[in-house]
Amino acid sequence: MSSAVTDRRYRRFGLPNRRQSVICTDMNRAADQTQPNPLREGISTRAVPQPCSVVIFGATGDLTHRKLVPALYNLAADGELPPAVAVVGFARREKSDDEFRKEMEEATRKFSRQTVRDEIWNTFAQSIFYHQSEFQDESGYESLAKRLDKIDKERGTRGNRLFYFAVAPDQFEPILKNLKAAGLNQTRENSWARVIIEKPFGTDLASARELNRVVRQCFTEEQTYRIDHFLGKETAQNILVLRFANAIFAPLWNRRYIDHLQITAAETLGVEGRAGYYEGAGALRDMVQNHLLQLLCLVAMEAPTDLSADSIRDEKVKVVRSLRHFTQEQVGANVIRGQYAEGAIDGKPVPAYRAEKNVDPKSTTETFVALRLHIDNWRFWDVPIYMRVGKRLPKSGTEISVHFKKAPAVLFNKELSDQNVLVIRIQPDEGMSLRIHAKVPGTSFRVEPVKMDFHYGTSFGKASPEAYERLLLDAMGGDATLFARHDEVEEAWAFIDTLENAWAAKKDAPDLFFYPAGSWGPEAADDLLVRDGRAWRRL
Ligand code: BG6
Repeated sequence: MSSAVTDRRYRRFGLPNRRQSVICTDMNRAADQTQPNPLREGISTRAVPQPCSVVIFGATGDLTHRKLVPALYNLAADGELPPAVAVVGFARREKSDDEFRKEMEEATRKFSRQTVRDEIWNTFAQSIFYHQSEFQDESGYESLAKRLDKIDKERGTRGNRLFYFAVAPDQFEPILKNLKAAGLNQTRENSWARVIIEKPFGTDLASARELNRVVRQCFTEEQTYRIDHFLGKETAQNILVLRFANAIFAPLWNRRYIDHLQITAAETLGVEGRAGYYEGAGALRDMVQNHLLQLLCLVAMEAPTDLSADSIRDEKVKVVRSLRHFTQEQVGANVIRGQYAEGAIDGKPVPAYRAEKNVDPKSTTETFVALRLHIDNWRFWDVPIYMRVGKRLPKSGTEISVHFKKAPAVLFNKELSDQNVLVIRIQPDEGMSLRIHAKVPGTSFRVEPVKMDFHYGTSFGKASPEAYERLLLDAMGGDATLFARHDEVEEAWAFIDTLENAWAAKKDAPDLFFYPAGSWGPEAADDLLVRDGRAWRRL
């Protein structure tokens, strides 16, 4: 295998190339001596991104400015983009190509993870175009089709189209239907058309089913990429590697050795001008239905038979399907909802949620949820899973912790209250740590917990790409592994609906606990664990 090919494989797998690290040289040697590692081979060879036009609906919106165009620029700067890529912004406002390029340049300079280099930007900017149209206007799609044909001829994008829906959900349907009417949903010989749909994918089971139905009328499941950006985070992807490329964890990964799991997604940010959306969503729909349940699936799923998108998603969907549903009465005891009151973040006073712009002063929308869940399958039966997510918490961080059962209380363990804990840090400071016990150096025999720590930054010497970079690249390569399938989304809503319905039934007297901004949520969330003789891990 040529070294260029090998290096590329390492890059696709999120590893540095061979020249960059001793660890890699060793791994490479090991790989040369043994059979090809199917995990590495599978992931690295599957998604070769192909030349294409990326059409972004909602090109003047926040997501395009903050995430999508900066992600495409970073891919260009890292040499990861296919040889020919065009970016076509589609939006309502009048604008020339040059005006749009200027706007995108400003946004990219502000939000890019790498400093923007003029020479790279100038080349990249030549592939950016703007197409003005109302989303409802059929003729705008006919002219788009012509424009894309022209771009194909001029830039070599080969008739491949990636349509990205960075718009409010009420625009999904008209855009889908108009793409179909203009024939843009059809794949022509040796080319493809794919659609990436942003969240929220429905607001409950019924609306998600309806949206899936509308999507199916226009695009096949193979053409549909439902994005959950948490799946594109480096450490989320590493969960499968951790579990299935390291033989030491497999025997321990079950109810016999695991005491409980915790998943926390904490943010110091408040609602940040998104009240229009957030008031109707709340933390449960905004974060739990998608991001947290996806993380849980990766931690709890069985080993897939292979690394194809469907084999992995088959296993993930079984986890959501196995979630124990609550009766109306059980919801109050197992799910705590909170809303931030005024308080302070980093010593600076911040207003209550109800005092934020465009929030109803009597709003009962939750900005915090803590849940105690169970997965009713053989592996995890009766292992409590505690999840919490919240805005205006004292620290930002997302992590999963696996708390193992204590060693027998004999010998050194007589006095020890600590368990072994494996922490997977999704962000920031991506990495993992394992808490073990060690003898404190000295003449006495004291045992203390210590941490074995792995940091992406220091081990691999480079920053992880943004989730959107990886996901855009995968969609260009036709790899849907890190995107949610229709049944995953629907199963997740089926679970969330039971909670939303229980809360809705108590609309006049909702169990809503207030917590000061800058605290770790309401006390009731702590009690959820205290009751079981446990405590939340400190981030
Ligand atoms: C989004 C939610 O999906 O994820 C936001 O709508 C949340 O409310 C965000 O802030 C968190 O994502 P990240 O990548 O910043 O942790």
